[in-house]
Amino acid sequence: PPAGGWEQHMLQELLDGRDEGRRNPVIVLAEGACDSDGNPITADQVKQVVERGFGGEVRVTVLGHVQRGGAPSAFDRNLGTILGHAAAQALIDDTVGDAPVVIGTRGNRVVHVPLAECLAQNDAVVEAIRAHDYPRAMALRGHGFKEGHAILRTMLQARPSASEPKPRRLRLAVLNAGAPAPGMNAAVRAAVRIGLDKGHEMLGVDNGFQGLIEGHVRPLGWMDVSGWVSRGGSELGARRTKLVGKELYAIARTLENERIDGLLVVGGWTAYVGAHAIYHERGNYPACDIPIVCLPASIDNNLPGSELSIGADTALNSIVWALDRIRLSASAQHRCFVVEVMGRRCGYLAMMSALASGAERAYLHERGVTVGDLLGDVEALKRGFLAGRRLGLVIRNEMANDVYDARFMGALYEEESGDLFDVRVAILGHLQQGGAPTPFDRIHATRLAGECIDHLIAEAGGSEPGTSSFVGLDGGKTRFWDLQDFPRMVDLGNERPRAQWWLALQGVADALGRADRGTDG
Ligand code: F6P
Repeated sequence: PPAGGWEQHMLQELLDGRDEGRRNPVIVLAEGACDSDGNPITADQVKQVVERGFGGEVRVTVLGHVQRGGAPSAFDRNLGTILGHAAAQALIDDTVGDAPVVIGTRGNRVVHVPLAECLAQNDAVVEAIRAHDYPRAMALRGHGFKEGHAILRTMLQARPSASEPKPRRLRLAVLNAGAPAPGMNAAVRAAVRIGLDKGHEMLGVDNGFQGLIEGHVRPLGWMDVSGWVSRGGSELGARRTKLVGKELYAIARTLENERIDGLLVVGGWTAYVGAHAIYHERGNYPACDIPIVCLPASIDNNLPGSELSIGADTALNSIVWALDRIRLSASAQHRCFVVEVMGRRCGYLAMMSALASGAERAYLHERGVTVGDLLGDVEALKRGFLAGRRLGLVIRNEMANDVYDARFMGALYEEESGDLFDVRVAILGHLQQGGAPTPFDRIHATRLAGECIDHLIAEAGGSEPGTSSFVGLDGGKTRFWDLQDFPRMVDLGNERPRAQWWLALQGVADALGRADRGTDG
């Protein structure tokens, strides 16, 4: 912020917030914050300014080193594992060459970048900040950083900014559909605020497509979505409604009656199938000829064109939290646990939770399960227990195999293990769907929703009826795909995308999950 100007600006935002009903403002300060002349802005200064200009009881809390400690999240464990594996592999294969490299990831793919290049980029940011050239420093941080900062500024406002009168004020509706995914509320909040800030009317649909069928559509204001960013579940309500003939007619009536210009559908498989069905009816019902955008929100991470759907990170962390405790129980009693996780026929949660928990094996529908595999795995575990291991952990995707279910697998392991170890089965169930969204899911949801609303406005605001799409992260960048390509990009029978990037991690999982070793995990 400009030197000598931030105090008044900050107070004005706090006062505006109070007028709009915000009761307990929170100010977050980076430890290195400074004004545009490079003068530090400290927590005590902020406290004094707020006490003088705003009143109330102001407290300073310095979070300190708790930020560095603690058990790593599922993402951090897997990033460490994948990078450690890639680094060792590069040294073994002698692919590094003479100049040192940094091994990192871009868009979920491991990349090697010359160390000198990384350091030069870092130095350029430091230099720009030292020269007080903040626009350049922001630009050097990359598009995502800059764009994230812009969205943050909008979200922090107490009310929509006074925008120019629009040639056409659009009526944009948002709904949640399918099973709940943590982060859905954050997506709706961001969509509503960004749409309002751009001068359009935002409408919420209750209970997914069912609400569209029954005409349950209501305007949503800036403060109606206050506090939604951290809430799990779905405030609007989400249902799995399959759309057929008469439902589609009822939806067309609602779209027409409510004069809806564009629709944002936040949800999982059912949401995509439903959106595609509405899109398909545009020839029969002109009201359906509006742009529709689908935003991926499913713990299963089984949506096309999207490397990570909202909710998958939270579910993964809930699973890993549970697995850490199951491991402790197992190690105390020399046991093997067969743990079943959700995901339907998509093995993402099983594979990634196995990597993050140090499990010996993950059974996925994608790979199939045979009795031969199961017997081979028990034999390997037996060798491991003989060599000194204290526990075994195997993860099963809930639909890995229709016949060899969790109870069957537990019984087979128990019978074949002899006296070497006991076996218990744990089915984690719906705790995986609930829970407050992780920071990653909140941020991911907010950013995707921001891009979706911009896209919807561009498509709905033109003279021709705009196109419909689904959005997702693709190689680290947001990409919109034509909704008509949905059937082509998925394996309809198994309800998952044809291409799944994370299956390439199987080699890492196989290298680490050596059940026949005498050490645990
Ligand atoms: O699709 C999301 C999901 O959580 C699946 O992983 C799981 O099989 C299912 O929903 C469970 O929800 P329900 O009990 O509603 O079918």
